[in-house]
This record gives sequence, structure tokens and C-alpha cells, in this order.
Amino acid sequence: MSVTTESLNGRAYLAFEDKLPFLLDELQNRFEINSSDLQVYGNLVYTEKHLESYPYWCSTVLLKPVVLTFQSVNDAANALKQIQRNWASYQYVLFRRAALIQEKLPYINIKPKKFPFEIPQKPIGIWTLLDEHKLLFSAETSNYLPCGNLEFVEDHENPPSRAYLKLQNALVLFNSFFGRMPKAGDVCFDAGACPGGWTWVLLQRGCSVFAVDRAELAPALMTNPKVTFLKHDAFTLKPADLQDFDWIFSDVICYPERLLGWVKMWIAQNVKADMICTIKMQGETDWKLIEEFERLPDSRVIHLSYNKHELTWMHRGNK
Ligand SMILES: C[S@@+](CC[C@H](N)C(=O)[O-])C[C@H]1O[C@@H](n2cnc3c(N)ncnc32)[C@H](O)[C@@H]1O
Repeated sequence: MSVTTESLNGRAYLAFEDKLPFLLDELQNRFEINSSDLQVYGNLVYTEKHLESYPYWCSTVLLKPVVLTFQSVNDAANALKQIQRNWASYQYVLFRRAALIQEKLPYINIKPKKFPFEIPQKPIGIWTLLDEHKLLFSAETSNYLPCGNLEFVEDHENPPSRAYLKLQNALVLFNSFFGRMPKAGDVCFDAGACPGGWTWVLLQRGCSVFAVDRAELAPALMTNPKVTFLKHDAFTLKPADLQDFDWIFSDVICYPERLLGWVKMWIAQNVKADMICTIKMQGETDWKLIEEFERLPDSRVIHLSYNKHELTWMHRGNK
């Protein structure tokens, strides 16, 4: 086998599908990296510049990238196998040759998952062909999901909107970070609930839901005995006037500042609920504001595979 390797000093960041422009914008404007210091390979962005944290718009980070030069498909596959078992493939060129290499690697399950799904806590590497005889790999990545992506088996009949996938995605990640999932008997506040995808997921989990929106939910949800619907501005309701919640959710379309003020109000009132809220990104991103969400206690900000031009803030309540 004739292979050579060269370890690189920087890291490579894989953008979520269709989110490369957002990742490049984040690297340049949040992390203040010049475009001349960024090398782009498909959706992968390599830089030698040090980043204090992982960019939101990247699904996984190639933490220790190495360039492998090889002759044959067998050489490439054998070299990767000798390093570790699990390898995910991200490709932007030479798809046929890449498929031949991946076929020779141990099987990894990249089929859509059935919710609820627990992310296996097993390291997974990633590799990408650069040309016919060169590939970039990293055995260490920042995410245990293959290429950092999560895809669910879809239910085309029951949920009232596709937004249910976003909440399923958020709950799987919340559980992997904080070890909690809504359970039977939990009481949930769903702000901006119409037409009811998130409410539907919570009902499937056995929860009861206080759903607030200016518009009504889908008819089957409006008549569900476990749903209490209120036509109201969700942001003007006061915790003191409401029941106690185990979970608080918001998918309201609003400016991030308004959401930040709202979630700070709940935390300041010492509410113990776990919280998951969509931050809708509009216009130019105010990175300082987004980082403020992250600095709230027991909080994380992430982009989900099922988010659009959105980030998701998660907070583990003090239950
Ligand atoms: C993206 S949709 C929510 C989709 C929903 N999560 C689902 O799963 O079907 C956003 C919703 O926020 C609602 N909304 C916007 N401003 C609101 C406010 N201040 N209070 C309550 N709902 C609001 C809109 O009426 C809209 O139905």
C-alpha cells in the first residue's frame, strides 16, 4: 500500500446543506476571519485561524484534518480502516470514486431515523475526496452524527405541518445535551403554535399543551382534550397569570431582541421549565445578541438540520 499523510494545522468546518453562505458570513463577521484565510471545498471551509467556539452554521468540525495521498481505492479504504471503524462520507467531487471507497469501509447506518432517537455516543470520522488521489479526513469530529446531520422518517398523514420535524430534531439534541425529553403528564406552553406541528409532537409524547397563537390550530388539535388554545399575543402573557409549565416552547416569528427579552423574563421569574425557542434570523445578524442567548444560564444555541434561516436556543430548567 502506498499512501502518505500530511497533518494540517487548521480545522475544517462542514456547512449544513444549503447553508454555506451563512457559514462564510459567520466566519467573516462573527469570527472576523478574512476571506483570504478561508479555503472552500464544496460545503467544507478550511482555515488555519483559531476559533474560540464552533460556528452555528456548521454541522460538524474536522478537528484534526489530515490530507491522505493514495493510489487506489483499496489503498484509501485500508488506510481509513486502520485508523478507526466509523467513517462518514462528505463529497463534492468524484462521487463514483468516493462511493467505491465508502463501500469498502465498515457499514454505518445513515438511514432516516424514527423519532424518538438517541444519538449513539460513538466517535465518527469524516472524509472527503479532494482529487482522484487525495482525500481530506479527520478521525475526530465535533458531532457523533454522520456529517452532523439528522434526518427523520416522515409522517405525511398526521401532523398538520412539517414544522413537527424541527421540534423532533430539537428534542433529540436537547436530550443528548441535557438528558431530558418531554414525558407523559408534562405540561407544555407552545407559543406561536399554529397550525400545530409542535403541539402534535408534544401530544404524541403524552403531554398536555397550552397553545397560544393569533390563529387557531388545525381542527383535530382544537378539539383534542389535552390541548388548551388561547388566541393571544404569546409575549404579553405573564408567568404569574399562568399555570406552572414543565416545558416552554416558542416558534413565534419575531425579531431576536423580542425573543431574548421574553426568555429573560421567564428566567428572571425563576421559572423552572426547560425551554426550546426558534431564533428567526432576519437581515444582517447581530452576533452579540445571539451570543447573549448562549450566555444565559444552562443554555445552548445551535442550528438544526430542520431549521431554515434560524437558530435554536435551548435552556435546561432548574427542575
Ligand atoms: C412558524 S409558525 C409556527 C409553526 C408551529 N410551530 C407549528 O409547528 O405548526 C409561527 C407562528 O407564530 C405566530 N405568531 C407570530 N407572532 C405571535 C405572537 N406575538 N404571539 C403568538 N403567536 C404569534 C404566527 O401566527 C404563526 O402561526
